[in-house]
Amino acid sequence: MSQEIFDKVKDILKDIENTAVQSKDELEQFRIKFLGTKNVVKPLFSEIKNIANDRKKEFGQLINEVKQTAESKFNNLKISLAEGEEDAAGAEIDLTAPGAPMTLGARHPISVIMNRIIDIFERIGFTVAEDREIEDDWHNFTAMNTPDDHPARDMQDTFYLMNSTEMLLRTHTSSVQARVMKAKQPPIRIIAPGRVYRNETISARAHCQFHQVEGLYVDEGVSFADLKQTLDYFAKEMFSQDTKIRLRPSYFPFTEPSAEMDVSCFICEGKGCNVCKYTSWVEILGCGMVDPAVLENCGIDSKKYTGFAFGMGIERQAMLKYRVDDIRLFFENDVRFLKQFTSA
Ligand code: PHE
Repeated sequence: MSQEIFDKVKDILKDIENTAVQSKDELEQFRIKFLGTKNVVKPLFSEIKNIANDRKKEFGQLINEVKQTAESKFNNLKISLAEGEEDAAGAEIDLTAPGAPMTLGARHPISVIMNRIIDIFERIGFTVAEDREIEDDWHNFTAMNTPDDHPARDMQDTFYLMNSTEMLLRTHTSSVQARVMKAKQPPIRIIAPGRVYRNETISARAHCQFHQVEGLYVDEGVSFADLKQTLDYFAKEMFSQDTKIRLRPSYFPFTEPSAEMDVSCFICEGKGCNVCKYTSWVEILGCGMVDPAVLENCGIDSKKYTGFAFGMGIERQAMLKYRVDDIRLFFENDVRFLKQFTSA
């Protein structure tokens, strides 16, 4: 009789060892069967009395073994079930699915236009010159034939550095022209792109900071015809081969004679629109022959050399080109605005 009980327990032990579960339900059934309050080992206790005394200890050990085996088996089953679930979840990931697209950055519209202008002038032998934005009064004004009390200083409202009458934020990149002329003798053929500052009330049409490209050509025998020819080439490359230019007399302290250049309206092509205000001309830049006084101020012999210069605002061109009606948009860095511009 007692051997029979031993065999029953050993069968239970084998049962435990051979159990495999596929689901949480089956795992729970295993727990109830072997570890629950009504587990299959329990009824055997009532039969202990039938076991010979010298084997009672052995029986107790066997029962303990069943309990420990059931516990560790339960834990192992639980772990492998969880791992199986993870694998199943993993199988749902489609490794061939295309990735979420990365949003591509775009150049700032001001850079697009600026690079385009630089490229056009580089093709005819101009090189880029860059210099500081915090300038001294001499390079920004005095060298440019605009001494202290010159009324033309009012044309450009200037930001001076705190407690300084000497240092300022450059109001135009003509200051770069002054630096280049001081540093080297003709032939000089440069364009000066960069940021400039003017103390203007910020509105849809004006900002206290904007960008310019200025150009300077100084050599023997440079004439107004060269200036006109160069600007005509620029306008055709920049807008279209059908573009016409018109030079109107103007005034700048650093050029004599001076002119403002209009281009035929590239939006309505002469039919009249609100961009050209129904004149069919759009103002693009200021220019002129470098005033001999400017050459002399910068150490260049004005009897031997002549030169022309021009300067244009980039924001204005970008506004015309892209039909943007508020200059402030260029400085807000709102990507919804910025990513609309990919080419000039
Ligand atoms: N410096 C002038 C401006 O900022 C532009 C200009 C440059 C005009 C060179 C004539 C010649 O308004």
